[in-house]
Amino acid sequence: MLDHLKANNRAWVDRMVAHDPEFFKRLENQQSPQYLWIGCSDSRVPANEIVDLAPGEIFVHRNVANLAPPQDANYLSVLQFAVDVLKVRHVIVVGHYGCGGIKAAVDGKRRGLIDHWLHPIREVAEEHRDELAAIGDTHKRHDRLCELNVMRQVRNVSSDVFVLDAWARGQPLSVHGWVYSLATGLVNDLSVTVRAPRAP
Ligand code: CO
Repeated sequence: MLDHLKANNRAWVDRMVAHDPEFFKRLENQQSPQYLWIGCSDSRVPANEIVDLAPGEIFVHRNVANLAPPQDANYLSVLQFAVDVLKVRHVIVVGHYGCGGIKAAVDGKRRGLIDHWLHPIREVAEEHRDELAAIGDTHKRHDRLCELNVMRQVRNVSSDVFVLDAWARGQPLSVHGWVYSLATGLVNDLSVTVRAPRAP
């Protein structure tokens, strides 16, 4: 079963060890990544490859449409571990243009549980209804919603109590918003980086 994957795995180990004989021994004992990636589950948006980082260098959380919902225990557990224990320096929310989750959130079709998961995206669309309605091209409208969704998730992360507490104790931490292009392989930094609590 899955013999090709096991063969790939053995070949990958051989390459890694040939390049760096201590690689696995070193990582076995500790990880000290500088980054937490919050991205989409889409198979075309693999965190390590896109930013060309080796195992051990980026802590990753992925779900459909790269959401950071303030009541989601899975995301919150990842965030707390990354901030409190690993002490990552950067949290990067990474959306991608052409995201199926974004499209599914607003196409009006019923799919089941995923409709509930995608609810926050419909809220973002509602908040920006006029701006989105003014974009005639459907792909461009969805792409703008991908950006607006990332901005909203950056707000969620940067207003989370784990992050606020880290800033309060003087821990350096930045929260960034990027959107990845499937067409070019490049990330677009939305320039919404948050490095300190917002003024109340
Ligand atoms: Co997606």
